[in-house]
Amino acid sequence: MKKNWKARAAVSMALAAFAGAAYAGGEAGIAQRVEALLRQMTIEEKAGQLNQLSGKAFSTGPNSEAVRNVERDIRSGKVGSMLNIKGVADTRRVQALALQSRLHIPLLFGLDVIHGYQTVFPVPLGEAASWDLEAIEESARIAAREAAASGIHWTFAPMVDIGRDPRWGRVMEGAGEDTYLGARIAVARVRGFQGAQLGGTASVMATAKHFAGYGAAIAGRDYNAVDMSEHQLYETYLPPFKAALDAGAATFMNAFNTLNGVPATGNAMLQREILKGKWGFKGFVVSDWGSVREMVVHGYANDLTDAAAKAITAGSDMDMESNAYASSLPALVKSGKVDIAVVDDAVRRVLTKKFELGLFEDPYRFSSAAREREALNDPRHRQAARRIAAESMVLLKNEGGALPLRRGLHSIAVIGPLADARRDLEGGWIVQSNAAKMASLVDAVRERAGQGVRVDYAAGCDVACRGNEGFDAALKAASAADVVVLAVGESWDMSGEAKSRAHLGLPGRQGELFEALRAAGKTPVVVIMAGRPLIFENVAEQAKAILYAWHPGSEGGHAIADVLFGDVNPSAKLPMTFPRNMGQIPITYQQYNTGRPVQDEKNVVYKSAYIDSPNTPRYAFGHGLSYTTFAYKDLRVSNPSMGPDGKITLSFTLANSGPVAGAEVVQLYLRDPVASVVRPLKELKGFQRVVLQPGQVRTVSFTVDREMLAFYDRQLQWGAEAGKFEVMVGSASDDIRLRQTIELTEP
Ligand code: BGC
Repeated sequence: MKKNWKARAAVSMALAAFAGAAYAGGEAGIAQRVEALLRQMTIEEKAGQLNQLSGKAFSTGPNSEAVRNVERDIRSGKVGSMLNIKGVADTRRVQALALQSRLHIPLLFGLDVIHGYQTVFPVPLGEAASWDLEAIEESARIAAREAAASGIHWTFAPMVDIGRDPRWGRVMEGAGEDTYLGARIAVARVRGFQGAQLGGTASVMATAKHFAGYGAAIAGRDYNAVDMSEHQLYETYLPPFKAALDAGAATFMNAFNTLNGVPATGNAMLQREILKGKWGFKGFVVSDWGSVREMVVHGYANDLTDAAAKAITAGSDMDMESNAYASSLPALVKSGKVDIAVVDDAVRRVLTKKFELGLFEDPYRFSSAAREREALNDPRHRQAARRIAAESMVLLKNEGGALPLRRGLHSIAVIGPLADARRDLEGGWIVQSNAAKMASLVDAVRERAGQGVRVDYAAGCDVACRGNEGFDAALKAASAADVVVLAVGESWDMSGEAKSRAHLGLPGRQGELFEALRAAGKTPVVVIMAGRPLIFENVAEQAKAILYAWHPGSEGGHAIADVLFGDVNPSAKLPMTFPRNMGQIPITYQQYNTGRPVQDEKNVVYKSAYIDSPNTPRYAFGHGLSYTTFAYKDLRVSNPSMGPDGKITLSFTLANSGPVAGAEVVQLYLRDPVASVVRPLKELKGFQRVVLQPGQVRTVSFTVDREMLAFYDRQLQWGAEAGKFEVMVGSASDDIRLRQTIELTEP
């Protein structure tokens, strides 16, 4: 078979009328080869390159009609890319079919490698809580290495949608509510997936998704309409996409939602004007799954053909699973309804990536059995997953030093529906589960506690927790223990796509299980696992210690134990605000002052307030405790004012004033108190993760320049306005330790 493809690839290269330059031979060489190939293609073959089908059909059995149809289409050049096919054996088998097509153009294999391939890292929202850009890049690199070795060329990640509504289940896949943090994390993830340059066999193409506005679905209901001002779009939702593009993201995915009445998939303003126009994006845009077809359901297109015409005209280059392009583009072009130049532009973009990946030199170069074996069994990947998971867990509360667990305990009870969970640790949207081989929290506590410590376990109830029949057994297990750890929260499939929730409390009667333990005098240390912020007021009030572990991945059991026992000092900070109640949603720290701000929570008469709830969240954006304490002192500015091209350096001293080594994520917020468009009370503009030994003191500096003071004005022009600015440095958005006023002077 190998000889066969080589012969075919040679033909394809000859057809590309290209001699000499390798795929790494530079942009000009590739452009020439793309043009040469394009000239050979029929309109059916062009439409084929823009057609992406799912290998899910293959799960219906090798001889089913669905599989035979897909195989036939691939052989006849009607498919340009497949998703949901993975592994060396399968990708080779299916690639061989594409090489039988007239022009022997190789397929692209795409897959949702969202937070790991074989080794599962914390869900992306959890990982974002680490605020550790190196760690986030590393996890994407590992995922890329594993996926690329298994024949995958392309991941549909990172999701860079801003999420401010925890009802929306897909907040799990993003980096949270903040535009600045989201943009920095988008860059780290794109770099991690793609490596220095496309074409390396340990890298995959990244996808910035879902372009755009998807995270702002009305009422947090997935796929719902999005209606927002252009100002909001530019200021809050687009910057992480722009950052991903600047970091080199090879592809974008559009979105299921309408934006101000126009489906993202048929949205020329987004895809043509902004993305490919103003921003100069050179990669290609893939539709979301069936989103071309869904434009008919939205009420934006008459039928599949009309949808195909609208989508491609608006700039959607590849059609995922609607079969609209393959079935309609040839006729649309022949009848003049779609300009061939539009189709050529899309095909050019797709072929360019295939060349850049080196697939014309070796269509199987990503599918290496030896590399697959090695990458999928590399113990360093598991170590990284454990370290990053521990770094992602947020210590929400720790009264009286309840954590870490004290030394010399004789007995520990690990209680709760997630205490012995394995699959739930992995979270939603994984490629394959390793649950059978994983350690649950109970396993990990047993291992860490060692021989002399008795560890009892009782579930109390399952995750849905509809009944309390198991509570007695849980109370019994807890009764003899020196300390009780309660693991509650969501199962893996309660967050993610199509997992919107109108109630964000702990599921079922889990909260009552906590109450029962407390009433029995066994107030537990609480570990919450979830893919999103939950609401757990009784626990927040009554528990002494709460560790928010998210869905921490395949090494999550060990990682939680690492934090509970103090082997790792927690340092994560919330990337999303935790509300007190459903009524506060959507909620973000980026509040406006309004004309009637609340100054005193006791007096809210005719204020911008709720009469039945505080405005403040339960836990603010940026909140997260440590087993040590940090002292912030002596904020100094290099100069109190700067001209338009100037810079101001802020420095302060940070000391580890507590008993153990730890990392503090110091956060820089700015406020423009008077502007032509009213600015929020605080906007994150910088952060650093600083590791300090006990007693160690370090000078931390940030540089403020004009860019950091800029915003979009009424005409959507980006710029800074002269005047005073408030600078705030702190440990959380609601824990500002140092303040200063600086000034930007007129040019
Ligand atoms: C999701 C995308 C995903 C695609 C392919 C869609 O339902 O919205 O994020 O990449 O499916 O699996």
